[in-house]
Amino acid sequence: MVNPDFEAQLAEVARQVEQVLVGRLTDAPLEDEIVRPARLVAAMRHAALAGGKRLRPFLLVAAHRACGGNLADGALIAAAALECVHCYSLVHDDLPAMDDDDVRRGQPTVHKAYDEATAILAGDGLLTLAFDVMAGPDVHPDPAVGLRLVRGLARASGLGGMAGGQMLDLAAEGRHTADGQPLRLAPHAIRQLQAMKTGALLLFAVEAGAILAGASPARMKALADYGRALGIAFQIADDVLDVEADSATLGKAVGKDEAKGKATLVQVLGIEAARRELQAHVDEALASLADFGPEADPLRDAVTFTGARKR
Ligand code: IPE
Ligand code: IPE
Ligand code: MG
Ligand code: MG
Ligand code: MG
Repeated sequence: MVNPDFEAQLAEVARQVEQVLVGRLTDAPLEDEIVRPARLVAAMRHAALAGGKRLRPFLLVAAHRACGGNLADGALIAAAALECVHCYSLVHDDLPAMDDDDVRRGQPTVHKAYDEATAILAGDGLLTLAFDVMAGPDVHPDPAVGLRLVRGLARASGLGGMAGGQMLDLAAEGRHTADGQPLRLAPHAIRQLQAMKTGALLLFAVEAGAILAGASPARMKALADYGRALGIAFQIADDVLDVEADSATLGKAVGKDEAKGKATLVQVLGIEAARRELQAHVDEALASLADFGPEADPLRDAVTFTGARKR
């Protein structure tokens, strides 16, 4: 069962991370900048400040605490950097050239509220802001730790991570065999695509918390196992919700995966098998925390929430 306090804990991290984001998305240019175009700042704020569960920040902060980390402010700043990458990925994911969505987090998508070019640039701005924020001295006093985080974020976001996964997602979309039947990707290929497009950032969230806390190799490995299992569970839940939820609760359109011929486990295995697989990954993530005590309860709650989430 999901801890009844979990939503309040999630909301509290969301509030703190939003404070950091508000502080970074100012109109006034920073020292080394020339001007910040008002329309671009507004579009970036629209993308970064209009809701969202902020689960990635929560995971980073929770992993940091589970490893006994004591630089809580640094963890929040790192969490805000990570959330910038996630928000950028949503802006670009919603573009007409990609999933072509009009609603996100209950608001018009950035290209609807502004225009496509502004949405592309708002994504570019958020992605680069993420690295600016992550590289800051207020994340961790040791530059070697900062560098590990910056490189980890780059790897999770890039060619062999999120961007690569988005490529595979689009490449698999709406494909048909020579006789007109929908082409179904094998489940292992779908798991790999999803581990990249969605799993990589979620895995990095827990790894980043552990890196910041100076976790032991054994704890790092346990958390990485947790993060990988949670990542797969999270995207299966997203694909189940696309079939079963309503757009008002979800804050985005539903039924899109079927309409676009997306490669999902729901599509190839059916909803019941996908749900069983989702639960198996939740259990796997919980099992990987076996050597942690109550300090990892927020991580346990986060994956239980992921398995049962309605939004
Ligand atoms: C949606 O992510 C995109 C996926 C990776 C499936 P979230 O469900 O975390 O979206 P927000 O941040 O809460 O809006
Ligand atoms: C999105 O997957 C993954 C990324 C944004 C990287 P989806 O395309 O399924 O996410 P939603 O359903 O639009 O949120
Ligand atoms: Mg997509
Ligand atoms: Mg999408
Ligand atoms: Mg989806």
